[in-house]
Formats: sequence, structure tokens, C-alpha cells
Amino acid sequence: IGAGWVLLLAVIIQAGCGHPSQSVLDPAGPAGRSQLGLIYLSTGIMTLVVIVVAAIYIYVVYRFRERPGEEEIPEQVEGSRKLEVLWTVIPIILLVILAVPTISATFTLNKKPEPEQSMRVNVVGFQYWWGFEYPDLGVQTANEVHIPTGTQVDFQMTSGDVIHAFWAPSLGGKQDLNPGIQNRLVLEADRPGVYEGRCTELCGASHALMNFRVIAHPPEEFEEWVASMRNPSSQPQTPLASEGKKLVSQNCIGCHAIDGAGFEIKGRTGPNLTAFGKRTRIAGVWENNKENLEAWLKDPQVVKPGNRMPAFDHLSKKEISALVEYLSDLK
Ligand code: CUA
Repeated sequence: IGAGWVLLLAVIIQAGCGHPSQSVLDPAGPAGRSQLGLIYLSTGIMTLVVIVVAAIYIYVVYRFRERPGEEEIPEQVEGSRKLEVLWTVIPIILLVILAVPTISATFTLNKKPEPEQSMRVNVVGFQYWWGFEYPDLGVQTANEVHIPTGTQVDFQMTSGDVIHAFWAPSLGGKQDLNPGIQNRLVLEADRPGVYEGRCTELCGASHALMNFRVIAHPPEEFEEWVASMRNPSSQPQTPLASEGKKLVSQNCIGCHAIDGAGFEIKGRTGPNLTAFGKRTRIAGVWENNKENLEAWLKDPQVVKPGNRMPAFDHLSKKEISALVEYLSDLK
């Protein structure tokens, strides 16, 4: 019953946020809808139990209260088979009503979709960022995963370090990312939009900042995105950006990869930066603009404590500007 109130409170708080793209109460796909149905069912059952128990309690306290002149201990009653059976059977029935749809929804979420009707995306969680790879499309990105609407997306998840959990409340979930294990979560968006996602397993200092975005496009627009990612514009457009590219090759490429730029090394310990300029946020938390990127490069620890990126404060102001120029131009 306590859990019921906590859940109800959580639902009320969620509803109060009013953020359309991050609410279990505003599902944007079949998984989210089936989960919202479960939330209503369980909240309904729990509310019913609270009301019935409270009503019985109030009735008993009132009906058997001490009246003036009654000083002896009342007659003591022990055992009632009828009542024992009743309050054992009713909770069993309620738990069955909860369990059957919950278990069936859990299995549906984990069901392998038909390969022809789905798109596979490999997800790897790291402290504190998300790597996304489209094995059939030859595309890699980080922190923002683009998907077509109306398609089942077969997210295959694992972790590169500790346990994380993937949750995009509007779409459904969530699912743990365990090192050495592949977990599956099949999600589908039925309308275009930006859906906020969060890490929901405590994973270190910046767990609360380990955000991602699921960006759902109509299919034609998604195809355009894939084409642009396969053929990204990774060459510098200005002299400053050329200087930046040189600095990237000296400072960044050991950890980050930029496809189409002609770098010999493709670092894998940090997020893939292909078409970085098109991302909406830096490191999943900060609006992607030049000012923020400059501050991030100078000291990433201020924004996301505990992340593995070192500060580039040894670079001059001009060198930082060159880096920013080149990275922002990656489209
Ligand atoms: Cu990753 Cu919390």
C-alpha cells in the first residue's frame, strides 16, 4: 500500500513537469502505451485496496470504540477461518490480475522483432555517455540516436564499464546495460519528435547527467540523415578550421573518431564525433553552441564531474577557438 502512494505521488510529480517528450503519461509508441496501461491498472488496484482498508479501519475504530461506563476489557476473539481465507484469497486474485499483463508486457518488450520489419541499433553505455551503432547502415553516433517513425527499433545493449540503464520514458523501457551481456529493448515511435532519455542505474558521479536523446524522423527524413552520416562533411571550410583539424589530430583522435575526415586513427574510448555540429547538445547535457563547446574543452569536469575527458587548458585561446570552429563545422 505504501508503494501505491509512492507511485501515485511519482505519477503526479511526472504529470506536473509538463515536458511533452519525457513523460510516461504521454506515450509515443506501443511499448510506452502498454506500460501506461499497466501503470493505470496497478495504480487503480492499489487505490482500491487503500480505500477499502481505510474504510474498514475507520469503521472498526468507530464501531468498537470505548463508550462511557465501559471499563472492563471486551470479550477477546481469536481466529476466524472465514476471514483468514478471505484476506488471503483477495490479495492472491489482485496479484494475479497485476502479474498476468505485467509478465506478458515484459516478454513482448524483449521479443525479437522480424529482421525485415525492424532496424537494429547497438547501444553501449559508458561513464557517462552513450554510443550508438547502426550495424546494417554502417553509421555510428553518440548521445543522440536517430530513428525512423513506424519502425520497430531493436536496441541491443551492453556496457563498456559499469551497469547503466536505458530509459526514454515517452517511448517505453527501461533496460539494464550489463558488461558482457546483451540485453534487448524493442521500441517504436509512432510520431516524429525528440524524446529525452536518461541513465537510470546509479553509475558514478555524473550518473544524473548521463542523458541521451531519441530523435524520431519520418522515414524519408531518416534516410536523409543516414545518407548525411555516411557522407559527412568533415573537411575544414576556413583557415581557422584547418588549424582546428590539425589540433584535433594531435589532441582528440586518440579517443574520438570522426568519419570521413581522413584521420588514420579512430579512437573508441570517447564518443564518435562524426557530424558533431549537427548534435543538439554537447555531452548530452549542454546546448551545442560555440561558447559552451569552448567552456567544455577548457574544463569538461565542471560540466560532467568524473568523466574521462581531460581538460585542454594547456591550449591557447586561439587554439581552442580553432578546435571549436572545426568541430562545429562537422555536419
Ligand atoms: Cu550510467 Cu547512470
